[in-house]
Amino acid sequence: MGETEGQKLLTVDDALKMNRKEVLETYKNYIHQGRATLSALIGIDTNFVRASGCKVWDENGKEYLDFVGGYGSLNLGHNHPAVIGALRKVEEIPVMLQSALGKFAAALAHNLAKIAPGDLQNCWFCSTGAEAVEGALKLARIYTGRKNFIYCLNGFHGKTMGALSVTGKKKYQEPFEPLIPGCIPVPFGDLPALEKALGENDAAAFIVEPIQGEAGIILPPEGYFKEVRRLCSSYNTLFILDEIQTGFGRTGTLFACEQEGVVPDVLVIAKSLGGGVVPIGGYITTSAIMKKAYGSSIDRTTMLTSTFGGNNLCAAAAIAAVETIVTENLAAQAAEKGAYFLDKLKNLQQKYDIIKEVRGRGLLVGLELSESGGLLDFLSAGSVKKLSSEFLSSMIGGEMQNKYGVLTLFTLNNPNVLRLEPPLIVSYEELDYCVEAFDKLFSRHKSFFKIALQSGKGVLSSIFRR
Ligand SMILES: Cc1ncc(COP(=O)(O)O)c(C=O)c1O
Repeated sequence: MGETEGQKLLTVDDALKMNRKEVLETYKNYIHQGRATLSALIGIDTNFVRASGCKVWDENGKEYLDFVGGYGSLNLGHNHPAVIGALRKVEEIPVMLQSALGKFAAALAHNLAKIAPGDLQNCWFCSTGAEAVEGALKLARIYTGRKNFIYCLNGFHGKTMGALSVTGKKKYQEPFEPLIPGCIPVPFGDLPALEKALGENDAAAFIVEPIQGEAGIILPPEGYFKEVRRLCSSYNTLFILDEIQTGFGRTGTLFACEQEGVVPDVLVIAKSLGGGVVPIGGYITTSAIMKKAYGSSIDRTTMLTSTFGGNNLCAAAAIAAVETIVTENLAAQAAEKGAYFLDKLKNLQQKYDIIKEVRGRGLLVGLELSESGGLLDFLSAGSVKKLSSEFLSSMIGGEMQNKYGVLTLFTLNNPNVLRLEPPLIVSYEELDYCVEAFDKLFSRHKSFFKIALQSGKGVLSSIFRR
């Protein structure tokens, strides 16, 4: 039976040819109206048609620098030839054949064991960061036989039920309650609070990020993780370190925990493991933990299945991604470029009150805007209390994108912080360009206030109407 006009399906070629307006309308009707409306109002509904390295181009050939970096999944930049090349090499082998042992998954796990700190050796693979966190939490329960988890306020571990239960933001948690029971929040960096929680709760695991990314790029106090390691060991609680955003060179070493001089019991990975092209996540743990948790006999193996986890295509891309990150020494590049970038941004901070703080490590950098008496208040014409500042911050992102061609976004748990996490292959010229763009934006911020106020009024009234 042929399809009628009303049933016509769009092809890949049709999607490739869509213009900005068509993307907006289709997205609005078939995915999410609010997201589409907000993007259009802020002017970031740009139709990107090409990407390479740190650069992306829109349908009119305009060039942009990507400082969002796929939230940390683009350490190698867009469409890195080594990753695309690996995908081409395996295009004729079966991508998914669950009855066979995945040789690419095995090779990837072998390589991860070689580069991971300490005695971390056995991997489990899945497709996303949140799923990797689920796997790590389950590993902790089955290993310890305990139920509770300790996590950090403002921390971010993903939005599936288990990961959300240990994500420290009420806005994301409350509509979905009841979440999994026995999850106890403690402030990040607060060792007495952690020790109290460990003493009172018989916890299976403490899950934490080495640097809180979505909280607004929050660094731990000096020596924090050494004590975390000691405390977790003394309470027989697993120490799960979520390096989904910080991993694979982002903070100046392959894994951020190397700079803290600690080895967790479970290291959770995703994002840049896929080389910016494929979705792959997982965890790596010690063989002793894996053995006790899932045994070396056959009866528990089916507990670890995941249809797409470690499939040949994703694992091959990940092998190439890891190899490139290691051989090109991108971690050291991130350390050097990050120090240079941070220094330049700190100089800007001296010039503009609107910049409250600049912080970060390697190329995981946050620029925090001052809320009171600053841009946000002015922009909102006093409506800050009424309006979620997420949308106001997005307007500044829109200005950076449309006026200066630099893509930035705000961190999920702190919308006053602009995340700056370009691919680690970013050039010094590109870093300079980003700093100069901020300089220009803030130096003409009086007139920018007016422009943004005008465009902002539309956004504000639309949001208030909803
Ligand atoms: C530290 C951390 N953990 C987990 C996640 C969730 O990963 P995903 O979005 O792939 O589920 C994120 C995503 O931003 C993250 O930054």
